[in-house]
Amino acid sequence: MKERVLHLLKQSCPEFISGEIICRNLGISRTAVWKHIQTLRSSGYGIAALPHAGYRLLSVPDRLYPEEIRDGLGTEFIGRQVYYYEHAISTNETARELADRGCPDGALVIAEEQSGGRGRLGRKWFSPYGKGIWCSIILYPPVNPSDAPPLTMLGAVAVARAIRKVAHVEAGIKWPNDVLLDGKKICGILSEMNAEIERINYLVIGIGMNVNVEEFPEELEETVTSLKIYTGQPVKRTVLLQEILKEIEQLYKLWLQNGFQPVLRFWKEMCVMLNRMVRVNGIKDVIEGWAEDVDEHGNLILRLGDGSLKGLVAGDVSLQGGFDLQAGRREGSSL
Ligand code: BTN
Repeated sequence: MKERVLHLLKQSCPEFISGEIICRNLGISRTAVWKHIQTLRSSGYGIAALPHAGYRLLSVPDRLYPEEIRDGLGTEFIGRQVYYYEHAISTNETARELADRGCPDGALVIAEEQSGGRGRLGRKWFSPYGKGIWCSIILYPPVNPSDAPPLTMLGAVAVARAIRKVAHVEAGIKWPNDVLLDGKKICGILSEMNAEIERINYLVIGIGMNVNVEEFPEELEETVTSLKIYTGQPVKRTVLLQEILKEIEQLYKLWLQNGFQPVLRFWKEMCVMLNRMVRVNGIKDVIEGWAEDVDEHGNLILRLGDGSLKGLVAGDVSLQGGFDLQAGRREGSSL
């Protein structure tokens, strides 16, 4: 009901809407309307109240509230159910617990901050309060576990497309799923799966995006950035998140219907490291080679010094000579 009161306030904004009209629309009493207005105010919404005019929405808080995310989202199942937390240890961890209890397909877990955000290869993920999008999406894909790895790359495509659309900057992708601006990481994706040999019980796509982060710990300064640092402007997190959710739904459906190839085509179009000399810090060793391709399973295909080809499943890629030439320029700028 609180969400419906908010919806009416937004619809009439910037005009006042009378308490009487809200009552009639929602079939509730004046006292009930007043209580919902008070709850909204205590969540940070600015609402003016005038005796003969009614209520008027003045401001919306910079929070990723479920009602803000769902408002005008228009997806079929991704993000329809939102679990919102001011604080989480790790949204991936919370998502796993919710999936164990059978939450809906496409459910979204979101936190304003994480104290134990997890990154790939056992790293920590810096997740300060209210400055980023720290979220996890739960999926039940009807495929074999061996077909799941491309879903992480699908996440990267969705994020890069959303950034391009909302912030009008040319985000690029680095294998397997880092999203970059000017060669610096702006978003990382960590997928986790619960599966049996032939069946996925659930998959969690964890997305960490530095949206309005202004400062990073010293050890990250060289390699990471945020949309705000890059564009010089704060970006509305709800708008960006809605776009990511829409993109994920669209790409996920495409993947279910047509396999990975169409998504992989998008991924390659935005990739900033193919046909370059790269160094890959793998799980066991470091390998250098020419990044020749990415195959239909998402493996990086390297051409080694002796001319042979090697497929890599995981690792951290750095470009020989840096990323400055290709990654994420502002649209329309020249080199
Ligand atoms: C990477 O190392 O590039 C992946 C980072 C993924 C971070 C996100 S933040 C939301 C979700 N919850 C986590 O604990 N990790 C992922």
